Amino acid sequence: MDLPDISQSLALYERALQIIPGGTQLFSRRPERFAPGVCPPYVTHGLGTRVWDLDGNEYIDFLCGVGPVILGHAYPRVTEAVIAQLRKGSAFPVNHPVEVELAELLIDTVPCAEMVRLCKAGGTADEIAVRIARGHTGRDRVVFCGYHGWHDWYLAANLADDATLDGHLLPGLDIRGVPQGLRGTAIPFRYNDLESLRAALQAHRGEVAAIIMEASRTDLPAPGFLEGVRTLADEHDVVLIFDEVITGFRLAMGGAQERYGVVPDLATFGKAMSNGHPIAAVCGKREIMADAATMFISSTYYSDAAGMAAAVATITELRERDALTHIHAMGQMLIDGFAERARAHGVAASMDGPPPVTHPHFDVPEELRTDIMTLYLQEMYRARILACTVNYICYQHTPEDIAAFLAAADDALAVVRRALDEGDAARYLRATTRGPDLPRLVR
Ligand SMILES: Cc1ncc(COP(=O)(O)O)c(C=O)c1O
Repeated sequence: MDLPDISQSLALYERALQIIPGGTQLFSRRPERFAPGVCPPYVTHGLGTRVWDLDGNEYIDFLCGVGPVILGHAYPRVTEAVIAQLRKGSAFPVNHPVEVELAELLIDTVPCAEMVRLCKAGGTADEIAVRIARGHTGRDRVVFCGYHGWHDWYLAANLADDATLDGHLLPGLDIRGVPQGLRGTAIPFRYNDLESLRAALQAHRGEVAAIIMEASRTDLPAPGFLEGVRTLADEHDVVLIFDEVITGFRLAMGGAQERYGVVPDLATFGKAMSNGHPIAAVCGKREIMADAATMFISSTYYSDAAGMAAAVATITELRERDALTHIHAMGQMLIDGFAERARAHGVAASMDGPPPVTHPHFDVPEELRTDIMTLYLQEMYRARILACTVNYICYQHTPEDIAAFLAAADDALAVVRRALDEGDAARYLRATTRGPDLPRLVR
């Protein structure tokens, strides 16, 4: 099969680069994150597990909106709920009852949730949670692990040492615009390393407002790790926040806290809670969340009724269909099938991570790693499989979709094998080489 013709998409992106700084609003949607020149920068529509690019090529989608599309594109129940709400209006002078309905649903689903605030994005939910923790404790410093968005409180980590976020976000991150006054307020610790957390808390005893972390991502928590984090948070009287933007409504309905049985004080949700419609949430214990009543956290669109209707429909559908059981089964099929094919080709590669969110990994010489990943992705796009370094499974993925992914991976691994044998991936590349990955601290 030929590589897809994406000439219209590429031409449009050239126009975008002239008028949109960085070309796109989300780093993960930049073409250099894929196989540049081969993966289309634009799709025009999606249905179920299929998307169509600007040039009319059809793909099976394993990116699912970069995470949020947990049920499938244009999923009927969610779309109908949003359209029904839009027909009745979505921005009102006072509040809409769906706000209370969604808050009650979240309280019923998420172990730590006794009170809820809503907003529009995962990073904003993290910012709100950090603000509440700072307000509650009267302290400024935050100890963190993992990725938590683009906001000042987080990027401040690179003010003290511009390499701090190298292992969390991106090497060489440009933090111009982050106030110098925040230096020393965001302190990292390492995943599955309780000593690094203990040291950070001891070095700033009595000054830390919050520990914020992804409770898991690709790596599983080591036995006792999350329990140890909980104990340290209690010993230092620090608010423990789980960022469940990826894990929520995916690892388990109630997120990593339900899956691992360790309950934080606050938790943030976004992405999968609304099947791609903009809404996010901060949930948590009453004694902490109640402080938000008198802190100034306020925005017009945080009570957008269409987004809330989407979240209610999504969460209800996920529950009624027991959708996560299917999603986990499909993801496990992907992991096992990829390993089998990698073995058959003698390529040291794996598909890592919990079944709903998997990451291909090539254990190849460092100097070949980026080219090999680019080559693998290029060959997946050749087979019209929209995959990347993170693959998401949604409820509408079928065993046939997984089989199509694995057949494409089989062909891609054969090309990778040849490139490895020849010690040269470049001769097989039609794409330009990808940019650096997000070497997240929580893999
Ligand atoms: C763990 C985590 N937290 C926060 C965010 C930011 O969410 P958003 O892009 O909705 O602001 C992301 C985005 O990928 C994430 O993975």
